[in-house]
Amino acid sequence: MSAVPAHAGEHAMLERVYIWELPVRLAHWLLFFSIVTLAVTGFYIGHPFISAPGPASAHFIMGRMRSVHLYASIVFTLAALVRVYWAFAGNRYARWSQLLPVSLERWRSFRQAFLFYTFLSRQSVDYLGHNALAGLTYAGIFAVYFVMMATGFALYTVYAPPGSPMQWFGWLIPLFHGLPIARLIHHIGMWVILVFAVAHVYFPVLYALVERNGVFDSIFSGYKFKEPGSRE
Ligand code: HEM
Repeated sequence: MSAVPAHAGEHAMLERVYIWELPVRLAHWLLFFSIVTLAVTGFYIGHPFISAPGPASAHFIMGRMRSVHLYASIVFTLAALVRVYWAFAGNRYARWSQLLPVSLERWRSFRQAFLFYTFLSRQSVDYLGHNALAGLTYAGIFAVYFVMMATGFALYTVYAPPGSPMQWFGWLIPLFHGLPIARLIHHIGMWVILVFAVAHVYFPVLYALVERNGVFDSIFSGYKFKEPGSRE
């Protein structure tokens, strides 16, 4: 930890604290780039909007989209697993207790965070890690990621050759009452993730402007600025 001067015009000293460790930031950016790739290629698989003249084998657009989708899905899966592992092995800001509101104190601040995010209160909740509402939202979006993996790997069994280890995921198909429903859930999951992504950019920008604690930059640098009275 080191102390640096506060922003211009204020005399308080803010403490610079290392919050997001490398695995958290790495997983975040791998998830970001893989989700962009999966959403673009997945949207094309669902709605093939490019029409190319001649036989399909001459351009192979759908085939390429599918293979890029599958390579990106491997990056996506590994990044999500690293982040889940780090919820057990990482520092206090990366842990499960930051995602699930397990204490009474966090439940109380959940209500205040909700009022702030919905513009019903000007009083923000100042946490160094995630506030209770943000933490629970991230837990929810990770649940959606796992639904995407389950439905995605179930769909992949259609392409996996007989004898491929990927056929193992076939047991997931009855859980979704068949492949068409798995595909529908997979498609709806994309829109849930994209709506989350919009809010996930908007609210940190809002927070960064209100609290000026470096929340937006922290996912690049790992550091935030602790004001007197900030909660862990
Ligand atoms: C481990 C993760 C994932 C795997 C294994 C996976 C795999 C697949 C497979 C096998 C298909 C079917 C391709 C076809 O029918 O030809 C598919 C379709 C699709 N995927 Fe994924 N996927 C994953 C994650 C994602 C994510 C994160 C998104 C969006 C952000 C996404 C969006 C889509 C969409 C929109 C479709 C088309 C569904 C439709 O037909 O309407 N996928 N995916």
